[in-house]
Amino acid sequence: MDQLLTPVALRKLRHALLTWYEEHRRELPWRRDAHPYRVWVSEIMLQQTRVAAVMDHYARFLHRFPTVQALAAAREASVLAAWSGLGYYHRARRMHQAAKVIARERNESFPRTAEEWRELPGVGRYTAAAIASIAFGEAVAVVDGNVERVLERVFGAVEGREAAWQRAESLLDRERPGDFNQAMMELGATVCTPRAPQCPMCPLHDWCMSRGANPARPQPTRKRKQLIYGLARRNGSVLLVQRPADASLMAGMWELPASSDSPHNGKEPAATLRHAITDTDYEVSVFTIASAMFHASTVNGKWFARRQWERLPLTGLARKILRRLPA
Ligand code: ADE
Repeated sequence: MDQLLTPVALRKLRHALLTWYEEHRRELPWRRDAHPYRVWVSEIMLQQTRVAAVMDHYARFLHRFPTVQALAAAREASVLAAWSGLGYYHRARRMHQAAKVIARERNESFPRTAEEWRELPGVGRYTAAAIASIAFGEAVAVVDGNVERVLERVFGAVEGREAAWQRAESLLDRERPGDFNQAMMELGATVCTPRAPQCPMCPLHDWCMSRGANPARPQPTRKRKQLIYGLARRNGSVLLVQRPADASLMAGMWELPASSDSPHNGKEPAATLRHAITDTDYEVSVFTIASAMFHASTVNGKWFARRQWERLPLTGLARKILRRLPA
């Protein structure tokens, strides 16, 4: 347990972790400079999305909205369009609302402390602490799933999340809180992984109770589902429908119309692909809708040329399907 570490051991542990981080950290685009806008955008994207997927979107998003003023001035549809493919779209909506607060009510000044950050839409305890420590050097610890696993393996299980936060707080290097927090997250993401941790590479090996002996937690089994869409094309445009404004997922975003065709009725799909969202693997089939069927299948549909749908807030899956279609 961390209180049992002597001050000397604690100092050594911090030093080992930070040295490892300096040598092994991934060069991620948001680590190049710790401007609060850039750190904030990266932490919101990273909340529920893997680093690899965030990398694909981060540079494009910042190019489109290089400053908090630009983000605040944008239409919501443009923000959602730039977010397309990252999923969990409420994050983009809340970030857009928060940008307006910063630009208009706070006179373009970013919050500095974690406590102030938490007042903004979309910023919870974890995100507030990450931004305040990385961009402003505030001595606050972060706990995400990776950090929780590292702490549990090194020091043993504790009851409840609050205890994990306290433990992280007592380990934190208060002179380099941003690096320390990122080092803990990085260690969990790259060395102290859920399955097959690389213990010989680990800077915390000397202090670790488990050294990889902890049984990996059982992984949730993945679900499989089929999705079937209709593809209607006319003069180079495609027909898309908008999800209801009160839909619980991806409200207001555009996608292909659902189709009543089935891969089992003998018709060849125009395209098939796989798409994974959280714990579900979707097998997706897209069937061409004959022009005679347009009306019945597409009550609320609208036609969009490529240059139009490229700027539309599409669901990630719709974007993936449309990009695969021959021009
Ligand atoms: N996960 C979320 N934010 C992170 C960061 N700044 N570094 C590493 N992993 C992260």
